[in-house]
Amino acid sequence: MNDASIHSEPRPTEHLEELLSAAQIADRIKQIARAIEAEYRGKKLTLVVVLKGATVFAIDLMREIGIPFVIEFVSASSYGASTTSSGTVRVHGLQRLDLRDRHVILIEDIVDSGLTIQAIITRLRRRGTASVALCALLHKIGAQRVPTEIAYKGFEIPDRFVVGCGLDYAERYRNLRGVYTLTFGPAD
Ligand code: IMP
Repeated sequence: MNDASIHSEPRPTEHLEELLSAAQIADRIKQIARAIEAEYRGKKLTLVVVLKGATVFAIDLMREIGIPFVIEFVSASSYGASTTSSGTVRVHGLQRLDLRDRHVILIEDIVDSGLTIQAIITRLRRRGTASVALCALLHKIGAQRVPTEIAYKGFEIPDRFVVGCGLDYAERYRNLRGVYTLTFGPAD
């Protein structure tokens, strides 16, 4: 039985295919943690996690980072039950954060069009941060509508809808340890 079948109950018309295994993701997270330690040792580091999708990746990454940091959370409007971007981004939770002179790493699950991350980064930079860098587990190639510099990138993936490792479809599949493409078709 594979990861997908243990942790969730696919509806008959939904098909999951593994794109990245749990082991591949764990290895890459370790590499990213080492790079972050090298860059931010001795600096006032704050990890700003984008709810909800980035939480799983962020927790795994946090456990690997061996230097001090503060964690904060913001949220952005999400896809809901759709698999295409609405193009409208609302950001919540930034106003209450004291980020003055902090080196911020924004932790995101996936950069698709780039609109969500651009909206958050623009607002973060207005808050007196010492620096802002982006860390994203996944980067969908060919889907970008705004240029996005990803300082710490897990994997580049094709422009397909994916779930797992925190990413959902209508709030499902976040608990899968790997990353899977989700397609719709007749029941098996
Ligand atoms: P963007 O603003 O188009 O870059 O979209 C970013 C957000 O859309 C991510 O934080 C996810 O919440 C969601 N998203 C984009 N692509 C996918 C996907 O393939 N699966 C699940 N959620 C996605």
